[in-house]
Amino acid sequence: MCGIFGYIGQKPAVDQLLLGLKVLEYRGYDSAGIAVLNDKGSINILKREGKIINLLNAFKSLEKNKIYASQCGIGHTRWATHGGVSSNNAHPHISYGGNFAIVHNGIIDNYREIRNMLTNEQHIEFVSQTDSEEIAHLLELEFSKRYSDIIRSESTQRERQKAVLDCINVVADILKGSFAIGVICALTPNCIYAYKNLSPLAVGRNSSGEMYMSSDLPTLCNFCETAYALSDGETAIICKRVAFFDKGIEIQKKPIRLNKEKNTERTSDCKHYMEKEILEIPDAILRTKDKLSLNYMRDTLPWLTKKPETIYFLGCGTAFHACIFASYYTEKICKVYCKAILASEFICQDVKLNDSTVCVFITQSGETADTLQAIRKAKQFGVRTIAITNVALSSICSISDSVVPTMAGVELGVASTKAYNAQLCAVVLLAVYFDICDCIDFRHSNYAEIQSTITDIANRINALNSGKSKIEEIAKTLRRSDRIFFIGRGFDYVTAREGALKLKEISYLYCDGLCGGELKHGTLALISKDVYVVAVATQTDSMKKMYNAVAEVRARGAKCICVSCFEKLNEVSDVFIPIEHVEETMSPIYSIVPLQQLAYLTAVSFSLDPDKPRNLAKSVTVE
Ligand code: M6R
Repeated sequence: MCGIFGYIGQKPAVDQLLLGLKVLEYRGYDSAGIAVLNDKGSINILKREGKIINLLNAFKSLEKNKIYASQCGIGHTRWATHGGVSSNNAHPHISYGGNFAIVHNGIIDNYREIRNMLTNEQHIEFVSQTDSEEIAHLLELEFSKRYSDIIRSESTQRERQKAVLDCINVVADILKGSFAIGVICALTPNCIYAYKNLSPLAVGRNSSGEMYMSSDLPTLCNFCETAYALSDGETAIICKRVAFFDKGIEIQKKPIRLNKEKNTERTSDCKHYMEKEILEIPDAILRTKDKLSLNYMRDTLPWLTKKPETIYFLGCGTAFHACIFASYYTEKICKVYCKAILASEFICQDVKLNDSTVCVFITQSGETADTLQAIRKAKQFGVRTIAITNVALSSICSISDSVVPTMAGVELGVASTKAYNAQLCAVVLLAVYFDICDCIDFRHSNYAEIQSTITDIANRINALNSGKSKIEEIAKTLRRSDRIFFIGRGFDYVTAREGALKLKEISYLYCDGLCGGELKHGTLALISKDVYVVAVATQTDSMKKMYNAVAEVRARGAKCICVSCFEKLNEVSDVFIPIEHVEETMSPIYSIVPLQQLAYLTAVSFSLDPDKPRNLAKSVTVE
C-alpha cells in the first residue's frame, strides 16, 4: 500500500528518493511521484502512473539540472483508494499557492466536507480526486491566514519553520481519519516536516549525517543505522538534525537501533521472492522455535501468571488462518475457551472482554490497519494483549503488552508463506506456555519435547521442497477458467482455507476453502466435472469421513487431488500427493507447503508475477 519516503543530505535528492521508492515497491502500488525543494525555495514535482521505472524514465528525459541540484525532497508510492490510477492522483500534491507539497498515507474520513468548503468558500480548484490534495491546500490557507507577515518580512528560517509546524498542527486538528504526512514548504528550504496519526511514520539518520523519513521502518534499515518512530499526534522538523514536537512543545525521543536485514536478495536460482520464501520455511520455523525459548516466554510475558479463562485470536487473511489454528490448538492443549475473530469484524461486535481474557493479535507486518484498530479496541477494555509479529518495531509492538516475535526474516512476496508457517510455530509454543504459565518449576513441562517436534517438522519440509514435480504437473493442467474447492476437517480445515487463499490471490482462479463436512450443506450443488476439489487429510479421526467426501465429489465428476499421509485416499483420487505423517495437531505447519507450492507454480504457469498480484498490497494499512 502507499509508502512515504523523504531525504535530506549531501546527495542529489532525486537519486535517493528513487532508491527509497524502489525499496518500498514490495508493499504494492500503482503510481509514484517525488517533489524536490532547492536552496532557493522552488518546488519541482514529477509523478507517473505505473512502475518506478516510468518515473525514472520521465526524470531522464527532463533537463537534468532543473531538479538534480536539490538535496531535499519527499516521495510516495500510491495505492489507489480515492480516485483512480493516474498521475494527477499520484502524490505529492501541491497547494494552490505553490508553497506546500505533501505526501499522505491513510484515509481522510472528512475529505468531502473539506473539499466542499475549499471549493465553495475559497474557490480553490482541485486537480485530483484524492482524499489527500486538500491537506496541501489547507496548509497554504492556514499559513496565509496566520503568517502572511512572515512571508513578507525578513524572518529567520527558524521562525518560518515554527510557523509551518503550527499550521501542520492546525490542519491535523481539522482532519479526521488516519494520516501520516510528509511536507515540504518553499518558504523553508532544506527542511521536511512529518506528522503522524494512526498511520506509521519514522525518521532515520545515518552516520554520514543524512536524514530520511519513511512510513516503513524495514525500508529505513537500508539507509540508516538509527531511527525514531513518531507517536500519534507528534510532528518532526527534519533538517541537518531532527527535532520532535508534541502539540508544538519540543520533546526528546528514544532512538531505535536499526539492523539491515540480511538475505533480502533473490538468489540466482530463484525467479521470484515467493519461491525463495517457500524454500526458507524450514529456517523460518527453526529460528522462531529457537527464539521462543521458555526463558524468552517468561521474560516477554511477565504478567501471565495464571492460565487465561478466555483467549481470542485476531488477525486478517493468512494471519486469520493462523488464528483459527491457534484457537483449535490452544483449546486442545489448555482446555480453555478460545475463539478466532477476524480483526475487521471484532470492531463491529460486542465481544465479551474481562480481566481473565487475553487477546492475541497475529500479523506478519504489524501494520495491518484492521488489526491495529482491533487491538486499540481491546485495550480500551483493559484486556491484556499479545502481538505475534514478524516485524520488530512495527506499530503493533508499541501498542501490545507483549510481543512474541516470529523469526521468518523479511518477507517480500505479497502472498505470505514462510511467515505463516512461523506464525503457526509461535502459536504452538505460546499455547504450551499458556498451559504451564502458573508452574513454579518448568522442568517437568513438555516444552522441550514440543520444540523437538517442530524441528522434526522443519526437516520433513526440506524433503517436500525437493520433490514437487507432481505439483508442477497439476499446475500445468489448470486452466484460467477452473474453479477449485479445498476441503479439510479439523486442523486440515485451516490448511484448506489457507491453500485456497494462496491459490486465489496469485493465480486469480476462483477458490474456496471449506470444512469437509459442510459440502453436503450447500456447496455440493456446485460440484460437477468442471471443478477441482483439493482434499487435505492428515487426521486419523477424520480420515474415513474425508475418504467418503472425496468419493462423493468424484462421483459427481469433480477432479480430485488429495494431499494426504493416508495411502487409502489414493483409491478415490485423480492425483494423489503423498506427504509424511507428522504430529497431527501440528500438521498444518507441514501440510500447507504443497499447497503453497501449487499456488506458486500455477501463477508461474499462467505467466503471472506471484510476488505482485493485482490489487493486493503486502501491508494493508487502510481499513
Ligand atoms: O501483515 P498481516 O499479517 O497483518 O497481513 C494480513 C493479510 O493482509 C495478509 O495475510 C494477506 O492475506 C496476504 N496477502 C496473504 O497471503
